[in-house]
Amino acid sequence: MTRKVGRDGFSLTSLSAALLTASHAWAADASVQRESPDQRAEAVVKAMTLDEKIALVHTPFGYPLGDTPKPEGAIGSAAYAPGVPRLGIPALQESDASLGVTNPYDVRPGDNATALPSSMMLAATFSPALARKGGEMVGTEAHAKGFNVMLAGGVNLTREPRNGRNFEYLGEDPLLAGTLAGNSIAGIQSKHVVSTTKHFALNAQETGRVMVSSSIDEAAARESDLLAFQLAIEKGQPGSVMTGYNRYNGDYASENRFLIKHVLKGDWKYKGWVMSDWGATHSLEKAARAGLDQQSGENLDPEVFFGEPLKKAVQEGRVPEARLDDMVTRILRSLFAVGAVDHPAKTADIDYAAHAEVARAVAEQGIVLLKNSNNQLPLSAKAKRIVVIGSHADVGVLSGGGSSQVTPLGSVKVPSPYPDNSFIANIVYHPSAPLKAIQAEAPNAQVVYDSGEDFQQAAQLAQGADAVIVFAQQWTAESVDVKDLSLPDNQDALIQAVAKANPNTTVVLQTGGPVKMPWLDNVPAVVEAWYSGSKGGEAIASVLFGRVNPSGRLPITFPQDESQLPRPTMRDPATTTSNPGEERKGLFSENYNIEGADVGYKWYEREGKKPLFPFGYGLSYTQFSYSNLTAHVRGSKLVLGMDVTNKGSLTGIDTPQFYVSNTDAQDGFTSRLVGWDRVELKPGKTRHVSVTVDPRLVARYDDKANAWRIAGGYYKVSAGANAVERPLKAQVQLTEKYLAP
Ligand code: BGC
Repeated sequence: MTRKVGRDGFSLTSLSAALLTASHAWAADASVQRESPDQRAEAVVKAMTLDEKIALVHTPFGYPLGDTPKPEGAIGSAAYAPGVPRLGIPALQESDASLGVTNPYDVRPGDNATALPSSMMLAATFSPALARKGGEMVGTEAHAKGFNVMLAGGVNLTREPRNGRNFEYLGEDPLLAGTLAGNSIAGIQSKHVVSTTKHFALNAQETGRVMVSSSIDEAAARESDLLAFQLAIEKGQPGSVMTGYNRYNGDYASENRFLIKHVLKGDWKYKGWVMSDWGATHSLEKAARAGLDQQSGENLDPEVFFGEPLKKAVQEGRVPEARLDDMVTRILRSLFAVGAVDHPAKTADIDYAAHAEVARAVAEQGIVLLKNSNNQLPLSAKAKRIVVIGSHADVGVLSGGGSSQVTPLGSVKVPSPYPDNSFIANIVYHPSAPLKAIQAEAPNAQVVYDSGEDFQQAAQLAQGADAVIVFAQQWTAESVDVKDLSLPDNQDALIQAVAKANPNTTVVLQTGGPVKMPWLDNVPAVVEAWYSGSKGGEAIASVLFGRVNPSGRLPITFPQDESQLPRPTMRDPATTTSNPGEERKGLFSENYNIEGADVGYKWYEREGKKPLFPFGYGLSYTQFSYSNLTAHVRGSKLVLGMDVTNKGSLTGIDTPQFYVSNTDAQDGFTSRLVGWDRVELKPGKTRHVSVTVDPRLVARYDDKANAWRIAGGYYKVSAGANAVERPLKAQVQLTEKYLAP
C-alpha cells in the first residue's frame, strides 16, 4: 500500500488512527478539513467497521410505509441512512426534489416549502443564472429543514411529449437541459447539500417504466440523453447520480454495466455515488459489479440486497471488500465535497418571502407568449369588466404530481383522476390565485370568475366583457403518462364556446408539456404558463397586464398533433405497470432509434415536419431583429457572434440562438443548438452577442473509436429567434479532430 502524505505532513494512516480514538470533534479540526474530500473519505472508510459500511449503502423510506415504521432518526422524507456518529459522519436525510423540499403524506406535519415553477418552466427561461438561484433557494430550505441530500437534478430529454414527468425535466435539447441542470445542482450544493442528477438514463416515459427497455444505439444515446447528463455533471458536479426505473438496451439501469461502469465512472470519471431509484434494485452481485453504490427505497424491493446479503457476499468474497469500500468512499467523498460534514444541516429559520421572489422571477421569465394577434395583450388596467374562467384560477395555480410534489402553505387539493392511488390521489394548486392577482393589476375593474364547468354559462358571462381570460390545464404526474396531447375534460369545447361569445379571449395554458390547440385560429392571444409555483398567479397577471414583458422560449417543440411524433401511438398503460415490484408482468422495449439522437426539433427538421410552435419560440411585446452573423475558429474553438436589435417600442429580453448543421457530410447532422444568450435591450438598442461552441456539439460520437469525432469540412451556421426562424446564415470550415468520450 502506498502511503500518501497530506499537505500538513499528516500521513493518512496516522489520520485514520486519530479518527479511531477521537470523537467526531475531528470533523471541525481545521487541519483535517484541509485534506481533500478524497483523502478524508478514504481515511474514514479505513476506520469503519463492516456493519457501519453496510448501513450506508442501503436506504429504507424515511417515512412509514405499510407496516414498516419511520426509521429511528429519520426526520421524515424519501430516504434515510444512519451515519457514523462516532466518526462525525451525519445520517443521510434525503428529500425530493428539483422544485423544492417535499413533505410526502405530510410526514412532517405542517411543514411547508417554497415551490419553484416546473423545471420545464425553468428551461423556458433559458437562464443559467435563474437555475443557479433556484438551486440555492432549494438548497437553503433543505439545509434549514435538516436535509443533506436532495434528489433533484432531473435531466431526461423530452422524447415523449406525453411523458407524465416532463414537467420535472428541462426539455428536449441536451445543451439547454444539461446547462440548466448543472447550474441548479451547483446552486443546491453551494448550500452544503448533496444534489443528485437523475434518472440515468433514457427513462423517457412513465407507461410501464419498470418494464420498458429503452432501445437505442450507443452513438445516438451519447449525442442526446447521455450528453445532457454529461454536461449537467461537468457543470454541477452532483454528489450522486440516480439510475432510472427502466432498462436500457435490455439491462435494468441500476445494474447496467455500460451506463454506470463504462460511461459514467469510466469515460466521465465520475467520483460521486450511484443510487438506484426507489424499489429499482434487482440484484446484488450484478448490480454491485455494474457499479451501483446504494440501494434506495429498499422497502419496495424483493430483498434488501445491499444489507445482510451484501455483507455475506463480502465475507464470502463474492463481492470484493474493495468494491464495498468504493461504494462507501464515494458517498463520503460527496458529503465532504459539498461541506455536508463540516456544515451539517440543521433547523434554521427560512425567509419564505424572499424565497417566493425567486420562484416569482423564474415564473415571470418562463412564461411563453405563443400568440398575440392585434396586440391583444397586454391587457389594459383600465378594463371595466374582466371575466376569468376555469382551472380553479380563483384558488391557485396547477402543479405536477408524484414524488416531486411540493406543498407550500395554503395549497389546495382536489381529487385527481386516480383517487385510489395514494401517491397521486390529489391535484395540488399552489396558493397564488390568478384571480386575485388579476384584480390587483386592474383595481378598478369588476373581475368575475366562472369555473368553466358549464361552458354555455361561461360563454354567457364572457359576453360583452372587456377581456376574457380562460385558464386551461393539463395535469401530469409521475407514474402516469397523459393518453394524448388534447386538453382533458372538454376544455377545447369550453375555449371554442367562450371565444365565440367574446373575441377578446386570451387562453392561459397550465400544462406539463405541449398540448394541441384546435381553437388556435379563433383566439387572439395564447400564453403558456406551465406549472408556475409559489408566485405563479402574480407572475401570470404581470405578463397579462404588461408589467413584465414576456421573455420565455419553448424548451420543447409543440407538435400539430400526435401523428408528427416518432411514435404516434403509445402503449396502452392498462397492459403495463409503473409500480416497482410488479415489473415481472411482461417486459417490453421501446425503439428510440426511430429518432435516435434527433430528439425534438431535430426530428422535425430531419423529417420536414412543420410543428405548431417550434423549439426556442416565444413572443415579446417588442420585436427583435438579427444581423452580422460571424463564425470564426479561434485557436481550436469555434466562436459565433451576431447583433440583436430591439426594433420595437418597449424594453424587452430576447434569447438569440445559434445553430450548426452539417447535412452535406456522410456522417452529418441536422441543426443543433450550440449556444444562446439572453439580452435585455431598450427600444432601438443593438447588442453584440457571442458564444464559444462546445466542440462535442459539432461532433458525432464514433463508438468504434470510443471518442467524439469532428469531421473535417464545411459546416452551416445559422442564427435567429428559434429552431425554425433563423434568418442569418454563414459557413465555417473545421478540421478533423477526435475528442475524449
Ligand atoms: C422517483 C424518484 C424519487 C424517488 C424518491 C421515485 O418514485 O422516481 O425521482 O426521487 O421516488 O421519492
